[in-house]
Amino acid sequence: MTITVKPRHPALGAEIRGVDLRRPMDAEAFAAVHDAWMKHLVVVFPDQPITDQEHVAFTRHFGEPEIFHQTSLHLRSDRVKEIFLVSNVDEDDRLMTPAEPSQKQLSSARQWHTDSSYRTMPSVGSLLHGIEISRTGGITQFINMYMVYDELPESLRRQVEGRKARHDFGMLHRLVGNPPPTKEEAAAMPPAWHPMVRRHPVTGRKSLYISSIYNDAIDGLDEGAARRLIEDLSEFAAQPKYMYRHVWEPHDVLMWDNRCTVHAVTPHDPAERRVMHRTTIVGRETVLAG
Ligand SMILES: [Fe+2]
Repeated sequence: MTITVKPRHPALGAEIRGVDLRRPMDAEAFAAVHDAWMKHLVVVFPDQPITDQEHVAFTRHFGEPEIFHQTSLHLRSDRVKEIFLVSNVDEDDRLMTPAEPSQKQLSSARQWHTDSSYRTMPSVGSLLHGIEISRTGGITQFINMYMVYDELPESLRRQVEGRKARHDFGMLHRLVGNPPPTKEEAAAMPPAWHPMVRRHPVTGRKSLYISSIYNDAIDGLDEGAARRLIEDLSEFAAQPKYMYRHVWEPHDVLMWDNRCTVHAVTPHDPAERRVMHRTTIVGRETVLAG
């Protein structure tokens, strides 16, 4: 099979055809896919009806799949522990309501963030498989944070250079009004401080590194000023010229780089089923300051 790469937006996002995600890639195919991923930041493999086991196996080409530390809300699959459920249908096929704690927590993904940034060694990337997709919303939007950094107005640039922001998983429950994490969950995931400007370990490029649903502090700023700065940066970043909006088709598999992009999903009709399975690639190094 010939591998083809077709950009979907000038800033980021491309589709890759000619790869069968059910089979192992050889070194040549891996290099082609990895190069396209580094160049386009977000890549989609259309029409890939993979099983969860195949999803996990494909993920292992790029690193170790994360096993989500939080078990209380059943967002981690009971069947395949590496799968994180971005779904409003549970594993017994029950449609959940937006008032349920797992759905409230997932609703935080409507704000700009990057996955697992609260880890000391944050995630490399994520792979999301659209099994039952939404037609009333549920569009996943991505921003090229290299471009955002390159074009940051001087007033904002001055405020992020050399600075660190705190990323705390414990911020989620406050954001959506859920009960706090259990003692074990909190102990498993203490907050992490990361540079707000980071250097990508593969491409060497600098990007803005923020994650608005987890950032609860910035060094040298009080709480209100920190919040306002994250909001100002997120607002600047969320411009169409930096953004790819992924409109899902069934069995798209989307792979994004968590080191140089942020994403946010649009709301959808809660009466409509949406079933998406995600793997998350574990980071193996701390964030390089840019
Ligand atoms: Fe996410």
